[in-house]
Amino acid sequence: MSNLMQSDILQQLEDLRQQAITALTSTSTTEETRAWHSEYLGRKGRLTGILRSVGAVSPEERPRIGKLANEIKTALEEALQERQTAIEQAELEAARNKELIDVTLPGRPQTLGKMHPSTRTLREIADIFATMGFLVYDSPEVETDEYNFQLLNMPPGHPARDLWDTFYTTTPDVVLRTHTSPGQIHAMRQYAPEPIRIILPGKCYRYEQVTARSESMFYQVEGLAVGKNITFSDLKGTFMNYASQMYGEGRKMRFRKHYFPFTEPSVEVDIDCVICGGKGCNICKYTGWLEILGAGMVNPRVLEYGGYDPAEYSGFAFGLGPDRMTMQKYDINDIRYFFSNDVRFLERIG
Ligand code: DAH
Repeated sequence: MSNLMQSDILQQLEDLRQQAITALTSTSTTEETRAWHSEYLGRKGRLTGILRSVGAVSPEERPRIGKLANEIKTALEEALQERQTAIEQAELEAARNKELIDVTLPGRPQTLGKMHPSTRTLREIADIFATMGFLVYDSPEVETDEYNFQLLNMPPGHPARDLWDTFYTTTPDVVLRTHTSPGQIHAMRQYAPEPIRIILPGKCYRYEQVTARSESMFYQVEGLAVGKNITFSDLKGTFMNYASQMYGEGRKMRFRKHYFPFTEPSVEVDIDCVICGGKGCNICKYTGWLEILGAGMVNPRVLEYGGYDPAEYSGFAFGLGPDRMTMQKYDINDIRYFFSNDVRFLERIG
């Protein structure tokens, strides 16, 4: 009886080993291996269950059973460990595959912002003048009457002030700059007596009726060169170079005498119309010419205000209106689009 019991139990143990191994090979997740462990090796598991009946076997026979049971336990634990490692590996691999980026998927379209046409023109101008050694100089949009007018040779009551419809603020003598020219004084006072080659791009403000052709806020690009032996030829050469870079080689250029309080002599500069080539069209108002800037040799008094001795130093200055250039370039017929914040305006411009 006891022999039978022993072989019975040994058989049960062998069966258990077989079944456990088979069951283990069909586990494929960590949860399943955990369940497997408690079924076969757990405290209430089948191995323990078999060993419980060992009490019925005679003491001499127990060691053989114990030995086999231990052997099976170790073997199953090792097999579990192996299985567990394989499953973890597979789970990791699966997770990795799930997160894999499919590089062949078409991208989601991005709405790209565009540069405002005014900014584009300003950058183009700055790039061109940079080739001639002009730095960009920043100066304030809020100015004093002194900087906006007096130091530019327009004392209080000077009739030329009427050319600029000024926004006066509630603080006496503080104005929104009507032009970028006061920046000349800031720059000269900062650099004197060193030579200067700068452009000053920025917004200006005028108290004006807003129409398709004029806004109360607009851009100007001022330019200033000060040094020894600067002549009108330098002014001309600079503009020729600028015009050919901006509008193409071989532009015709003409200088008309003009008056500005801060330059002497003063000119307005035209190029042959970029649209009709000088034949006459509605852009050039059938004159064949487009005005591109106002300029002149810096008035000696302005040089002095800037801290340069006019007996030793000279210079030229200019002011150009980038908004008009932008309108011509992109065929925009209403300046109010620039600041009306309608994105369709930006989208239209390539
Ligand atoms: N400040 C002038 C204006 O707003 C433009 C200008 C003309 C600037 C001649 C200059 C210059 O520096 O030399 O109309």
